[in-house]
Amino acid sequence: MRNVKLPSGREMPVIGLGTWRMGEHRERFAREADVIRAALDLGVRLIDTAEMYGEGGAEEVIGEAIRGRRDDVYLVSKFYPHNASRSGVIDACERSLRRLACDTIDLYLLHWPGSVPLEQTFEGLHELQAQGKIRDFGVSNFNLADLESLPATEQAQLGCNQVFYNLAHREVEWEVAGWCRERGVPLMAYSPLDQASGMLRDPALAEVAARHDATPAQVALAWLLQQPDTVVIPKSSQIDRIRENFGAVELRLDADDLAALDAAFPPPDGPVRIGMR
Ligand SMILES: NC(=O)c1ccc[n+]([C@@H]2O[C@H](COP(=O)([O-])OP(=O)(O)OC[C@H]3O[C@@H](n4cnc5c(N)ncnc54)[C@H](OP(=O)(O)O)[C@@H]3O)[C@@H](O)[C@H]2O)c1
Repeated sequence: MRNVKLPSGREMPVIGLGTWRMGEHRERFAREADVIRAALDLGVRLIDTAEMYGEGGAEEVIGEAIRGRRDDVYLVSKFYPHNASRSGVIDACERSLRRLACDTIDLYLLHWPGSVPLEQTFEGLHELQAQGKIRDFGVSNFNLADLESLPATEQAQLGCNQVFYNLAHREVEWEVAGWCRERGVPLMAYSPLDQASGMLRDPALAEVAARHDATPAQVALAWLLQQPDTVVIPKSSQIDRIRENFGAVELRLDADDLAALDAAFPPPDGPVRIGMR
């Protein structure tokens, strides 16, 4: 598995599994845990979740799925902005760890910018780090102004900025991606399949996919994986699709493919903020 390096020097896998919409219905827990176990069997090594998903339900499903194999997984979770005070983030993390039934979260993210002063948040995050309850921390849905508002010492330590990024939504390329790359902060692309929207049915994507005997979803993911220091976290509850998505790591797009995709899905040509799903 290819990895991306964090500013701390630790590494994370370039592809993982998203879990939004999991853990919302008790009667689906066992099946969802089976899907995550099957994903680990396929070689998926990063799981993205949040205290928000199923209000803790997704973390519980993951806790069940990774029982006895914690070391196989790189765990990413996120806390609500309303839990971003010093004590709030510590309590939120401890609740997440209980649901995940483990001692450490590898990468812990502020889900989106809020109103709690970030100095307080970082105090809590450093305390969690010192206690070994998290390894790295980072942010999500941060635009340039949000990133620049961070204390300089924290900017240099961000484990990632998890952002809405896919072929049909390239807003991050206007300024956020450059800021992150200059500092060695990885981008983690969420909704990389644009939530299975019309993007996957675009003729240009189909044409590139046909040239490689691949699927449109694989091309969409491979394109992201060819952006520098970028991690993708597609979500699926279907094991065949998880296998398909994971296969994108093997796909290498050439200059003609990239030009065709740029023509069909142009990058932004003026100032634009990143969106949020
Ligand atoms: N930080 C944030 O604010 C934020 C926001 C949104 C998402 N996220 C994270 O990012 C993860 C991924 O984003 P997402 O769930 O919004 O969207 P996504 O991964 O772009 O798309 C998921 C949708 O695509 C379908 N799908 C998966 N593989 C497919 C394939 N090979 N072909 C066709 N359809 C396919 C899935 O259906 P099936 O399940 O039926 O396969 C599901 O409906 C989330 O689960 C979550 O962990 C973070």
